[in-house]
Amino acid sequence: MKPVIFDVDTGIDDALAIAYALSSPELELLGFTTCFGNVPVQEATRNTLAVLEMVEKDVPVYEGASQTFKRGMKPQWARLVHGKDGLGNVLKAEPLKRAASGSAEDFMIKQVKERPNEITIIAVGPLTNVARAINKAPEIIPLIKNVVIMGGAVNVSGNVTPYGEANIVADPEAADCVFSSGLSVTLVGLDVTMETLLPLAKMDEWRDVHSKTAHFFADMTEHYIGAYESFYPGIGGCALHDPLAVGVVIDPSFVRTRLMNISVITDGEEVGNTVGNKEGETKIHVCTEVEASRFLDHFLDRMSKVMHS
Ligand code: BDR
Ligand code: CA
Repeated sequence: MKPVIFDVDTGIDDALAIAYALSSPELELLGFTTCFGNVPVQEATRNTLAVLEMVEKDVPVYEGASQTFKRGMKPQWARLVHGKDGLGNVLKAEPLKRAASGSAEDFMIKQVKERPNEITIIAVGPLTNVARAINKAPEIIPLIKNVVIMGGAVNVSGNVTPYGEANIVADPEAADCVFSSGLSVTLVGLDVTMETLLPLAKMDEWRDVHSKTAHFFADMTEHYIGAYESFYPGIGGCALHDPLAVGVVIDPSFVRTRLMNISVITDGEEVGNTVGNKEGETKIHVCTEVEASRFLDHFLDRMSKVMHS
């Protein structure tokens, strides 16, 4: 089992990624850490706890950053895409459990020191918590096995601006800190995630299971697909951004990668642009191709386990 810390800003694709990770025996989930992003951090924490409650798993959740790493930039929530509650408006009640005590960054630092060279961090929101952890304790940088990041758009256009992808645009200085730190990184950007489309037709198949969990995930995902249709008319589905980052940890052969240095534009019109450069030393593996249908089958198989249990 691969020990994992999962950093999330729980909107809808984060929720799918959480369920996928929790139903995958290859992963040992040590804890979730939350960040502002799709929603304010308190809501990301609540949504993470709500998903855990829905799938009946007990993993600690540590609340993290409520604002950006350096400049205290005003965050832009993604309620149009992820709904008023960040989960496609499916939340009916507050989760019973609360976040664990302690901060996200301290949890990361402690776990990495306890298990040097073992832990993979999967980060699918703005990179603020990771940046804070390595800024506070730079000695952990060589002790983290790998950071698998959903973020960026290297050879393709962005999704919130022509250049920028949402997680990087939300905190470009945190991203810059992470990419220039010497950390071992796998970058799962829009270059590959936009090829992983979950079709609308699957939602009825999910509902046919007739479990509470199936309806929870089908209803929220249908909201997400609706948002995709409004932004990309005729697309017929939604991109599985955050689940693909989990998939790459479970089975790295879902993607092909290329070693590149990544610099992040932190200001101006191109803010959040992740610029790839093949020169010089680097430990950043940029995903350039994905076996989308094999990944989708794997994701659907694991989701079906979640819905039938
Ligand atoms: C990323 O932005 C968020 O809205 C999603 O959860 C995903 O992590 C896609 O650009
Ligand atoms: Ca996310």
